Amino acid sequence: MFTSVIIPAAGFGERMGATIGKQFLLLQDKPILVHTLERFQQSGDIDEIIVATQASSFGIIDGFREQYGLTKLRPPVEGGARRQDSIARALEHLHADAEIVLVHDAVRPFVHLREISQSIDTARHFGASIVAVRAKDTMKLASTDGRVERTLNRSSLWSVQTPQTFRRRIIMDAYAHAATHDIAATDDSFLAEQIGILPIIVEGSYENIKITTPDDLLLAELLSKRFIP
Ligand code: CTP
Ligand code: MG
Repeated sequence: MFTSVIIPAAGFGERMGATIGKQFLLLQDKPILVHTLERFQQSGDIDEIIVATQASSFGIIDGFREQYGLTKLRPPVEGGARRQDSIARALEHLHADAEIVLVHDAVRPFVHLREISQSIDTARHFGASIVAVRAKDTMKLASTDGRVERTLNRSSLWSVQTPQTFRRRIIMDAYAHAATHDIAATDDSFLAEQIGILPIIVEGSYENIKITTPDDLLLAELLSKRFIP
């Protein structure tokens, strides 16, 4: 089955506070985005990679294709104001034959090949899958003024990562429904839930961090020294 991965990489990295988007910061002398792209280039399950980024970065992305031998990388697509808008635009550029679509954050370079393949297998069978890890901390539900209302049952709580993977028809319908009903989400599977699709969890690893704040960059430096895809 022809399988496409969309990599949203059009953010400005405000929480990182660097002078360039965090996806372009170097990790072991290579941009974080390149590490991420290499995971999907290596995966035998992926046929094309579509990056959504700012138009001013198109030249950089095209350069990555040559420099790092990323043969699966398609021409970049211009991102939008929100992550969701960037993905919506990339969806318009899927290969005609694409049947399975993954979405994976540009700033999660420590995804394992096993997570990619299991998320694809699971989405093929059940329609939608998300990679997630068991919550480590006890979670409380609180009111907006910080008063604890109750303690949640940790054994049923998961921290959600990417990839999030869908049959093409499901992600197209989910995004179309979100557009017409003005639903916003930082999580693609939430949009699928809104059309009645309940994704299946693929248990991932705690290494698959989203590099968000400067302390994540320190952790990423450490992880990159021992990471095995
Ligand atoms: N992203 C995107 N288009 C946007 C916003 C975000 O493609 N308009 C991408 C980011 O580049 C990143 C992923 O979505 O790969 C996850 O988003 P996040 O971690 O929030 O990145 P930023 O939006 O760049 O960071 P911040 O929210 O701190 O500004
Ligand atoms: Mg953001």
